[in-house]
Amino acid sequence: MDKTILCIGAGYVGAPTMAVLADNCPEYRVIVVDINEQRIAAWNSDKLPIYEPGLDEVVKRNRNKNLFFSTDVQGGIKKAGIIFVSVNTPTKTSGRGAGKAANLQYWEQTARDIIEHSENDKIVIEKSTLPVRTAEAMHRILSANDKGLNFDIISNPEFMAEGTAVDDLQSPDRVLIGAMEDESGQRALRRIVAIYQHWIADNKIKTTNVWSSELSKLVANAMLAQRVSSINSISALCEKTDANILDVSDAIGMDSRIGAKFIKAGIGFGGSCFKKDILNLVYLCEYYGLPEVAAYWEQVVKINDYQGRRFVDNIVNRMFNNIAGKKIAVFGFAFKADTGDTRESPAITICKLLLEENAQLAIHDPQALHNAKLDLADSSGEISYCENPAEAATDAHAIVILTEWQQFKDYDYRQFYRAMKKPAFIFDGRNILDHQALYELGYNVFPLGQKARNHLDCHSY
Ligand code: UDX
Ligand code: UDX
Repeated sequence: MDKTILCIGAGYVGAPTMAVLADNCPEYRVIVVDINEQRIAAWNSDKLPIYEPGLDEVVKRNRNKNLFFSTDVQGGIKKAGIIFVSVNTPTKTSGRGAGKAANLQYWEQTARDIIEHSENDKIVIEKSTLPVRTAEAMHRILSANDKGLNFDIISNPEFMAEGTAVDDLQSPDRVLIGAMEDESGQRALRRIVAIYQHWIADNKIKTTNVWSSELSKLVANAMLAQRVSSINSISALCEKTDANILDVSDAIGMDSRIGAKFIKAGIGFGGSCFKKDILNLVYLCEYYGLPEVAAYWEQVVKINDYQGRRFVDNIVNRMFNNIAGKKIAVFGFAFKADTGDTRESPAITICKLLLEENAQLAIHDPQALHNAKLDLADSSGEISYCENPAEAATDAHAIVILTEWQQFKDYDYRQFYRAMKKPAFIFDGRNILDHQALYELGYNVFPLGQKARNHLDCHSY
């Protein structure tokens, strides 16, 4: 039992994390369970339910050796001495804290399931991002069991990013483990540290108390998102002046105190975590009577919404204040490159705003078309989904880049130009294309935070 690890929740976080753990710890038996039968069937099949570079090999190398996927939550709880909980914690949609606080319903239910089916003491590890002090509440719930069992709660937030999950898990900047300060908590902490020591150097394993660990996760995401909103706010200013956001990012990023990462201007951040975690932080600050601190962090989300709206306003303005009935090729729907995930993708809002203007959308994405269809299922308007970029571009008035997929750079924009309506526009929401080359092909090019390269307006270029 000491060497059996269970993970409840086979999502983007739980399953890759456990696959890498199983890969590095052959003497542990790792079981990943989920209530979603379809998802578990997919983890057991040739086509895994999520696209993540390098994940196929790790899963297939270990599956049914020391890595198992199952829907038997009860059986898993009985067998394991160590339980990671990685169920989703969406933002509450109703009740107190609606729109900001985390919905802990799944987490609490999981804790109750653990009590019901446990026959021995266990270590329960928070892998989901949770509001600070959730562990305390969970500890109370778990301690209230009448079986005389001991449950130690550990906070071990995951910092992997989608698209680079396997590398991030294999070589993380740090592993953070927070434990209760009593003797039992410290014993549990040592057991979890020992697991990570199989592949992580000691100087990268940071141990804290539970509260610091929980808060650090929220703050890491808030600070990363804040950098994106900061640079995006400056991209708006660059478009009004002669400054170029790429030069500004380079120039400030060369300052080692600032650093070059996470200062790429774009259409705004997406993903399941950033917005949710910031709103969570905002809620906590309000709860603890810190309205100024709450307002400071809330502004990060407001700038993010503004950036998407601003991008659409620019499209409409530049296309003669009318996109009704015009076909627009949307390249990219995933919230970032190298994933099929579209949760909170800025593309969702941008496409909806374009549809409100009665544009016809032809959406192309190498991995996210399936999710795009689900996200736009309730939107009225003309939408087509194209595996082939040329099909999306044919007869389009504009190409709009929403995700920074590497392959978008290599497409044949000369051929697209021939097949498009004229004047042809490109709005590069991720600044990935060669704007001068496109301008020379005949396009009117509108990057973010840079001067337009526009044949129609001699003042612009
Ligand atoms: C989610 C959150 O988004 C993230 O903030 C948190 O840190 C971890 O959980 P992710 O793995 O991306 O991350 O979520 P998701 O892909 O939705 O996976 C959660 C899984 O838990 C789902 O497959 C769901 O079916 C499962 N689940 C949920 C259970 O098995 N039992 C439950 O009671 C609820
Ligand atoms: C994030 C955190 O990075 C990770 O540590 C945490 O565990 C989960 O949340 P993820 O959402 O998967 O990971 O992707 P990330 O690479 O952080 O990108 C988030 C969003 O910010 C994307 O939409 C991306 O396009 C955007 N972004 C990122 C920018 O617009 N500019 C940048 O410079 C960096």
